[in-house]
Amino acid sequence: MATKDFGAIETDYAFFMSNATEAKSDVEEYARQLNGFAEGRELIHLLDFGCGTGEFSRQLLETLAWPKESLYLTLFEPVDHQQEIAARRLCRFSDHAIASLGEASFDQRPTFDVIVSNHVLYYAENLTQTIEQLLERLHAEGRMLLAMAGHENALIKLWKVGFDLLNQPIPFYIAEDVAAVLADHNVSVSTSPSHYQLRFPDSEENRWKILRFLFDDYLRQMPREQLLREFDQYVQDDHIEINTFSDHFVVQLNPAT
Ligand SMILES: C[S@@+](CC[C@H](N)C(=O)[O-])C[C@H]1O[C@@H](n2cnc3c(N)ncnc32)[C@H](O)[C@@H]1O
Repeated sequence: MATKDFGAIETDYAFFMSNATEAKSDVEEYARQLNGFAEGRELIHLLDFGCGTGEFSRQLLETLAWPKESLYLTLFEPVDHQQEIAARRLCRFSDHAIASLGEASFDQRPTFDVIVSNHVLYYAENLTQTIEQLLERLHAEGRMLLAMAGHENALIKLWKVGFDLLNQPIPFYIAEDVAAVLADHNVSVSTSPSHYQLRFPDSEENRWKILRFLFDDYLRQMPREQLLREFDQYVQDDHIEINTFSDHFVVQLNPAT
């Protein structure tokens, strides 16, 4: 599938993040799913796969408030400078040096108790391979938490409209693809919806920011006016207000038979 460079759309993604309750809802959902997880565990190794600038994990770790001495953090993010920002932002939650996937320190830590990959797997090059690599790193009693939007999500519907205009399928994965890959593996999966709102002052410039976040380079080939008009259905007075939801997957390994 297509790759996406979040370095190039950094400010547009930040605009989305600061005007959406998505991260807050995702944090609440993960915190509910991890309730009691730290009890009786001396050490917790957590991998944030596709951490971006770490703003999401900052909110999650603040809510979880796990003991700093127990928590070991490993990050993976293809945009190098974002991973550096994330490491600086998250170091206060752990007494231990933050590791990166691919470092020797990571290889000494073969499994993780918690793997979080929050709205990342859309952009995997090969979804099955990526999920299998993550499952190999999941501790037998660990949990993998994934958030993904599916075809009922308003932004995925925008993707569909945009890529239909180019006569091509959406070149990224969505929640239904993740569900299909997980169904093919020896894992237990529970799913739940996470509702959120995207609300921002209505202007062409702001509509365009969301479109840049969604489509990046593909926008150059798309009819601008037609895509901007897609937001008309969400006008509330002088704001755009979109109420929608994503899917959360909690994945645990089944015991070997
Ligand atoms: C929508 S952002 C989510 C960032 C963060 N997890 C959050 O919740 O704010 C998607 C992130 O996935 C990263 N990403 C893109 N392709 C990836 C890949 N193949 N493997 C891992 N991460 C990837 C991007 O660089 C970006 O930081």
